[in-house]
Amino acid sequence: MRPILALWVAAVSVVQAAYWMEDIKHQGIAPFSPADGYEVFRNVKEWGAKGDGVTDDTAAINAAISGGGRCGGHSCTGSTTTPAVVYFPPGTYLVSKPIVGFYYTNMIGDPTDMPVIKATSDFPRSAQALFDANPYLSNGKLNFQSTNTFFRQVRNLVFDISNVPVTANAIHWPSSQATLIQNCVFKMSAQPEDTHTGIFMEEGSGGTMADLVFYGGKYGARLGNQQYTMRNLTFYGSDTAIKQFWNWGWTYKSLTVVNCRIGIDVSSTAVGSVTLLDSLFLNVTKALITGRAPGNTTGLGSLVVENVGYENVPIVLETADGKPLLLGDPNGIVYDYGYIRGNTYAPNGPLLVEGRELAFSQPSHLKSGGRYYERSKPNYEDVPASDFVSARDYGAVGDGKADDTQALNTLFQDVAGTSSIVFLDAGYYNVKDTIIVPPRTRIVGEGLASVILSVGEKFSDPNKPRPVVQIGRPGDTGFVEMSDIIVSTQGPTAGAIMIQYNLETPVSDDACSIRSGQPPSGLFDVHIRIGGFTGSNLQLAQCLKPPSQPSYVNPSCIAAHTGMHITPTARNVYMENNWIWVADHDIDDYDATQISVFAARGLLIEGASRVWLVGSSVEHFAMYQYQLVNATDVWMGQIQTETPYYQPNPVAPVPFTKRNEALRDPDFEADCKDAPELPGDPPCAMAWGLRVLGSKNVVVFGAGLYSFFNNYSTTCSTVEAGENCQARILSIESGPVGDDGTGNGTVEIYNLNTIGSVSMITQDKTDMAIWNETRAEFASTLAVFKSFKGDESV
Ligand SMILES: *[C@@H]1O[C@H](CO)[C@@H](O)[C@H](O)[C@H]1NC(C)=O
Ligand SMILES: *[C@@H]1O[C@H](CO)[C@@H](O)[C@H](O)[C@H]1NC(C)=O
Ligand SMILES: *[C@@H]1O[C@H](CO)[C@@H](O)[C@H](O)[C@H]1NC(C)=O
Ligand SMILES: *[C@@H]1O[C@H](CO)[C@@H](O)[C@H](O)[C@H]1NC(C)=O
Ligand SMILES: *[C@@H]1O[C@H](CO)[C@@H](O)[C@H](O)[C@H]1NC(C)=O
Ligand SMILES: *[C@@H]1O[C@H](CO)[C@@H](O)[C@H](O)[C@H]1NC(C)=O
Ligand SMILES: *[C@@H]1O[C@H](CO)[C@@H](O)[C@H](O)[C@H]1NC(C)=O
Repeated sequence: MRPILALWVAAVSVVQAAYWMEDIKHQGIAPFSPADGYEVFRNVKEWGAKGDGVTDDTAAINAAISGGGRCGGHSCTGSTTTPAVVYFPPGTYLVSKPIVGFYYTNMIGDPTDMPVIKATSDFPRSAQALFDANPYLSNGKLNFQSTNTFFRQVRNLVFDISNVPVTANAIHWPSSQATLIQNCVFKMSAQPEDTHTGIFMEEGSGGTMADLVFYGGKYGARLGNQQYTMRNLTFYGSDTAIKQFWNWGWTYKSLTVVNCRIGIDVSSTAVGSVTLLDSLFLNVTKALITGRAPGNTTGLGSLVVENVGYENVPIVLETADGKPLLLGDPNGIVYDYGYIRGNTYAPNGPLLVEGRELAFSQPSHLKSGGRYYERSKPNYEDVPASDFVSARDYGAVGDGKADDTQALNTLFQDVAGTSSIVFLDAGYYNVKDTIIVPPRTRIVGEGLASVILSVGEKFSDPNKPRPVVQIGRPGDTGFVEMSDIIVSTQGPTAGAIMIQYNLETPVSDDACSIRSGQPPSGLFDVHIRIGGFTGSNLQLAQCLKPPSQPSYVNPSCIAAHTGMHITPTARNVYMENNWIWVADHDIDDYDATQISVFAARGLLIEGASRVWLVGSSVEHFAMYQYQLVNATDVWMGQIQTETPYYQPNPVAPVPFTKRNEALRDPDFEADCKDAPELPGDPPCAMAWGLRVLGSKNVVVFGAGLYSFFNNYSTTCSTVEAGENCQARILSIESGPVGDDGTGNGTVEIYNLNTIGSVSMITQDKTDMAIWNETRAEFASTLAVFKSFKGDESV
């Protein structure tokens, strides 16, 4: 097949000027869209926008977003069938009224010359935002329920509201999983009389943001959401860089706050926890404000700070009523290498910790240049369009019908090791057998609308599981990079391992320095979606939640063996913003009706080492969401889980009753037989949120482990009920190896937030912390837990 590739490259290697995404052939399709000839890719200039800094482009941009019968307004609350990439070439786009978001919109600009979306000076003050991604409708509700707002990105754009007098927000972004704002700039007024905000977000269940720069504003960002991961945000001259007005948990990494009055204002008592890592405050009057009063023994406002510098900062931390708690140096620099305000168990508790210079474990293999390793999603801005190989040009059909197994495997095989990058045009690529991603392959999808869909018999036997996408065969070495891809299933595929990751990526031991050699492999916005969308045959029609039958399982709705398995040969993989989801509702149904789809295991990390999970969530798997077995050097930053809503009807692990010893499946029957009783008589055989066996150097910076339902009722996740949806949700167990050879590992968890579980932490079958001992607002929150098995305390 190599000659075909060569021919194809020759045919299009005309000199091109623009960013590859603009230049390539646009042949992505949305096969389940109701409209004929539906266009996924929309260049706003082809929709009439001028981008000349003079013409009012509002109507043209809104037409590019809404055209083709997309999902927005009163008639639509969510849709997977009408995805769009709304592309902005370089230019200044004047906008006089809000740009209105539709469901599944990816707004992407040219990163080599970032387009500016600029509000006119008569932009209405009453408007919610320059880009209102999820508008309030006349019924007072958000167009898309904030916790069901998935699959959208905003990248490579400048939002300029600096000309709007008095009040304005650049982006309004109530959002949930599989959403991203990345590589954007916000320009705001720095006049004290103006109240500008870069990003305003009041609710949702996110999510990730990264690589953002804010200039001016009363607030760089005003943020409320269940949980979020935010990395590499820079603020210049905002009055308050971040106003955090509610959350359960939040992880900030690599913030730079320069010339601001206040850094992060967490004075609200509706905040559960904030984790701040690897950051710098420079010329800031007050870096942090906490709503947690000294001596407060609740879980509220737990604060964890590691590796943060304060240069020319008079006050590092003060209380909401203005009492300084930590001083800085107005003419010098101080650092916090480990600061905590909150509770711990060591091993008994809760014990209040309020102090500086605390010993955090610092697995050096996870760091680069003194910080935990991180890197940005690739834009491939230096790569010409001629270096991208379209899957469709290579014979893949992507229409949700044809079998594309052969075409994709041939394409990946041919491109591996070359300088080309696979472009998986938008579409549904049905595969009847494993797709192998060989080492030295780079693959990029189109607007989260590129779906690999496993179908058929080969994926149906739970006793002979088979990967849908296999990244490296066991023993393979090399580098892989993938972004904006969804891996899915159709119908009953009980033997599907959605992604199996075997690849060893060699990295020089001074760790992961991009400059000096090869970086870890990267999976950015690679999501796993099991059911709940058109084309899955796992929707309302097939899998409506059963009304009353006890332990009813529809065999047609048993959909996967494992979400993702990172196997013992895997080394050095960086993952950012990944959602591994078994659907709890049908996204394409107006009422978001609940469905019962069954999948056994979530994310299993077995024997692997050096894994970074930056902003991830795993939801609704029957046995566990995250399980680590004999893993080494794992960084997890704001992980989030939900237990299946149907449990305990049926209990875990039904319908997956055959235990796989080799994979170290939990033994619910044995565990529950011996388990101590807990207050409130919670059901025991329920999925784990996080289970860690014999692993070492595991650091978790922010976890939200939630169990909201029993048999589809939320009565259990209340204070009155005693948060008794399940007995236990987090288990740290002696495992196969561990770092001392006895099976005892090292696990450190910072800002653990649980909901609906009576026990917050179970260590070798001992319940360490009970929900009502360290209550925050809705969640129960623990600032730190170190598991060194035996002794050691903070
Ligand atoms: C942080 O974001 C800036 C601006 O987008 C970018 O130039 C820089 O490379 C990013 N740094 C890291 C470490 O990701
Ligand atoms: C910080 O403040 C000092 C003193 O006002 C000033 O000289 C310096 O330029 C400021 N630094 C930055 C990065 O703005
Ligand atoms: C802790 O702070 C919260 C919020 O201000 C307050 O409601 C609560 O009474 C305080 N609890 C204790 C034990 O100080
Ligand atoms: C589950 O809930 C349904 C609907 O409320 C109810 O009819 C049924 O009895 C419940 N089943 C069990 C096993 O609790
Ligand atoms: C644990 O993982 C290491 C490294 O992958 C491997 O060498 C060892 O055999 C594993 N031990 C067990 C018991 O699985
Ligand atoms: C937690 O709840 C249990 C059972 O209801 C009760 O005995 C205990 O006193 C409570 N503890 C706290 C700290 O409220
Ligand atoms: C391993 O953990 C067990 C149980 O906590 C403890 O008794 C034992 O001393 C530990 N072993 C080592 C070597 O620390």
